[in-house]
Amino acid sequence: MKAKFGSKIGLIAATVGSAVGLGNIWRFPAEAQANGGAAFLLLYIACVFILGIPVMVSEFAIGRGGQSDAVGSLKNLGARRPWWAVGGLAILASYIILWFYMVVAGWTFEYLWQSLTGHLYQSVTSTAPGSTAQFAVRMNEFIANGFNASINTYIVMAVNIAILLLGVQKGIERLSNIMMPMLFVLLLVFCGVSLTLDRAIEGVEFFLRPDFSKITPRVALNALGQAFFSLSLGMGILITYSSYFPSSTKLTRTAVTVSLLDMLVAILMGLIIFPAVMTFNLSGEGLEGASLVFITLPEVFARMPFTRLWSVLFFLLLMLAALTSTISIAEVTIAFLQDRFKLSRVKAVMAAMLPLLVFSTICAYSYSPSFEHIRIAGLTIFDALDYFATNICLPVGSIFLCIYIGWFSPRGFLWRELTNDGTVKSHVFKLMLFIIRYVAPVLIALILVGTFM
Ligand code: PFF
Repeated sequence: MKAKFGSKIGLIAATVGSAVGLGNIWRFPAEAQANGGAAFLLLYIACVFILGIPVMVSEFAIGRGGQSDAVGSLKNLGARRPWWAVGGLAILASYIILWFYMVVAGWTFEYLWQSLTGHLYQSVTSTAPGSTAQFAVRMNEFIANGFNASINTYIVMAVNIAILLLGVQKGIERLSNIMMPMLFVLLLVFCGVSLTLDRAIEGVEFFLRPDFSKITPRVALNALGQAFFSLSLGMGILITYSSYFPSSTKLTRTAVTVSLLDMLVAILMGLIIFPAVMTFNLSGEGLEGASLVFITLPEVFARMPFTRLWSVLFFLLLMLAALTSTISIAEVTIAFLQDRFKLSRVKAVMAAMLPLLVFSTICAYSYSPSFEHIRIAGLTIFDALDYFATNICLPVGSIFLCIYIGWFSPRGFLWRELTNDGTVKSHVFKLMLFIIRYVAPVLIALILVGTFM
């Protein structure tokens, strides 16, 4: 019997859990900071509505219509070779992303642990501007210690395995039902704290008052990339999860709800980060990527009363977000192994997770002194995998899925999925089809070309 989510709330919680991840919490504010704040926000919102939702609906239609993993669903719809191979590409991309996403999830565990023990703040000698350097040293020491990073990765993997073994309803859905409300409560608490900081208003202005002169093609491309990354598009995740949707699920409404909640998390993160950055004068360098969360924020906490409390709560939040995303990424491969090779759940979970012991260890060691010099096209192993999977596989996969749904899927298929076989009305069907056929493939192709320029 095909596994199904047990309730509407659970299905939304699990899908939002997949979408809300490190992409929202560190990638979004860092991208917004680098791309002009409010201008980026505006374009990002536009991309979610114009492209993100239609592409999400396409993935939902394939999964719910095909009732299998990313390859099996396409095959069940009668897709021929080049089309189901797209599902294969998505599975491959998601598996590669898992190698290093597990490692970053491991970092969040280490930071949570170090916040709990207070070690993170122990010998920080100054909380004046400049102490950033001390947190930077700490982070670099940590990521350069491959052994330590590996152990943390294994701990997160063990938690993942435990949840995944429990299955779709008892594991993924139940965990998401607990974790997602916790995550939203924590975000609101942080928002409350941040918005009452001294110079909060300046941060809010940077984030919310658009300066249209900052909108450039590059900013638009970055906003599009962020929207796709954040919504977990193009990796087979949403095909896999939607195969667990009951036949009564309204796909358009679910896509809108998931996208709005995912966007809300990103916006709340902006409202948390920018007031803090302004108040503590941290704008400028050092705000990109991982350093924002692992260097800048500890510095903010160090200057606030109740340092350890905020630090524990924040890294707990990050850990919850990372965990619900890692299980969704892993589920893509597990579902594939279960459906294609008829493996039992236990065997499929083990077959997907055990090789990670090797692959994730390689990623965990990729910043250590003995391996850091190994470069692929100038990038560390870690960054090269990230680049290949995120910047190439993800957009290419999305383009092909749109072309398949728009032009080659069985006649009337999208209509049947959006209207649940004609039982509910779909006011947006024509618009969706237009975007999926014409707008999305062209615009996504532009991001792809843009990333190479
Ligand atoms: N959407 C999740 C996030 O934003 O972190 C998970 C994810 C999706 C990670 C796609 C990476 C990725 F390329």
